[in-house]
Amino acid sequence: MVKICCIGAGYVGGPTMAVIALKCPLIEVAVVDISVARITAWNSDQLPIYEPGLEEVVKQCRGKNLFFSTDVERHVSEADIVFVSVNTPTKTQGLGAGKAADLTYWESAARMIAHVSKSNKIVVEKSTVPVKTAEAIEKILTHNSKGINFQILSNPEFLAEGTAIQDLFNPDRVLIGGRETPDGQKAIQALKAVYAHWVPEDRILTTNLWSAELSKLAANAFLAQRISSVNAMSALCEATGADVSQVSHAVGTDTRIGPKFLNASVGFGGSCFQKDILNLIYICECNGLTEVANYWKQVIKVNDYQKNRFVNRVVSSMFNTVSGKKIAVLGFAFKKDTGDTRETPAIDVCKGLLGDKARLSIYDPQVTEDQIQRDLSMNKFDWDHPIHLQPMSPTAVKQVSVVWDAYEASKDAHGICILTEWDEFKKLDYQRIFDNMQKPAFVFDGRNVVDAEKLREIGFIVYSIGKPLDPWLKDMPAVA
Ligand code: NAI
Repeated sequence: MVKICCIGAGYVGGPTMAVIALKCPLIEVAVVDISVARITAWNSDQLPIYEPGLEEVVKQCRGKNLFFSTDVERHVSEADIVFVSVNTPTKTQGLGAGKAADLTYWESAARMIAHVSKSNKIVVEKSTVPVKTAEAIEKILTHNSKGINFQILSNPEFLAEGTAIQDLFNPDRVLIGGRETPDGQKAIQALKAVYAHWVPEDRILTTNLWSAELSKLAANAFLAQRISSVNAMSALCEATGADVSQVSHAVGTDTRIGPKFLNASVGFGGSCFQKDILNLIYICECNGLTEVANYWKQVIKVNDYQKNRFVNRVVSSMFNTVSGKKIAVLGFAFKKDTGDTRETPAIDVCKGLLGDKARLSIYDPQVTEDQIQRDLSMNKFDWDHPIHLQPMSPTAVKQVSVVWDAYEASKDAHGICILTEWDEFKKLDYQRIFDNMQKPAFVFDGRNVVDAEKLREIGFIVYSIGKPLDPWLKDMPAVA
């Protein structure tokens, strides 16, 4: 029986391995992590991450051919294929701080693999890593190998949170990069055979190691660039009276462009886009490609601009001050159908409003109070480390309350900011909400989920990103 071990039981390691276990009943899959809390949660009824369909998959395989364990060394030593899906945060100190990937966790995983291995292994990079990481890992493994043969493959993960299970069941493509030697090609075939249990062969792409590593960074940069492009247009739409939904529909019907990923919003978030683009920028700079680096920097700058612009709209619309005013924040996760808040635009928006002394009442159907308080008090990039290495119990931000209901959040509020596109925010009883708010009552829709016309009929002053402005907002321009 082929044995797979995955180091890192996070958003990628957990769902990916659960699907491999489901689709390959004859493969034994162990997911290991240094975080005891995470492994305990994977073995409980309350999984550590929320993903539609994940629970069903885990329940079908757990205890049969899918195991979650903290016994990292034993499972690694027994495995034929070792996936590494650990954190690759942005460096906060030293050379490349604020840009380069911090490979501390990757390196320590590699050293541990070398230390405990007694048989040949295929080591698969699942984490998103800088180009040429495989070469560094290969050096660590071969210099500590005691005669064992290690083959390194790059198999970046393209799943999107919120649709992870669907994406894993039916991926657009699986990408496997390996050495162009006979042993490298054999390793590629071995991993291909795993995916071939359910992925059609023409969707399994094989490349050299460096192409696979760079393709992941490139794919995330292209995706983020689309969002920044449409968000840049949203600012121009507001200035000219155009409607960004109409513009992106008209643009997206061009088959060369396509309709997906063209929704204007308060900005992109998630653990990967910013980190991976910063990493790409750093690699460009290291290779002397200043213009290329500057090109990609602009994608992040526009994203920051969009979040600032939103905060400025809120403050300027409410007579240039939100000091002491209650603002309801609906949605905190970086997108709907996930509880993940890593790099969510809500953090910067909330911090911006708190900077102007607002009182915030936050509601998100999937994010806990503890997580929100952590996010609002943590330093940039601290979030992307294993939880036990993050700052301990940060002090709660006093002007923030977290509630479990949108009506409670908006009671007596002066304004509402919608920051995640949860479906339930479309169906709220806005008349009831309006009746319980201070007047004038504002809605700032950062995701274009509400029917602005209906809300205006009720009496709200509505700001929808990239849409023609209310006369009220026109009279109170926001300088970004
Ligand atoms: P995560 O933070 O949810 O999970 C990483 C896990 O690795 C943590 O539970 C941590 O405790 C564990 N870990 C760290 N060092 C370890 C070690 N030496 N031994 C055992 N466990 C260790 O991170 P996530 O989101 O799963 O991402 C992992 C990688 O996959 C990152 O490189 C990320 O860029 C990439 N990725 C993430 C995607 C996403 O949607 N979240 C999508 C595609 C790629």
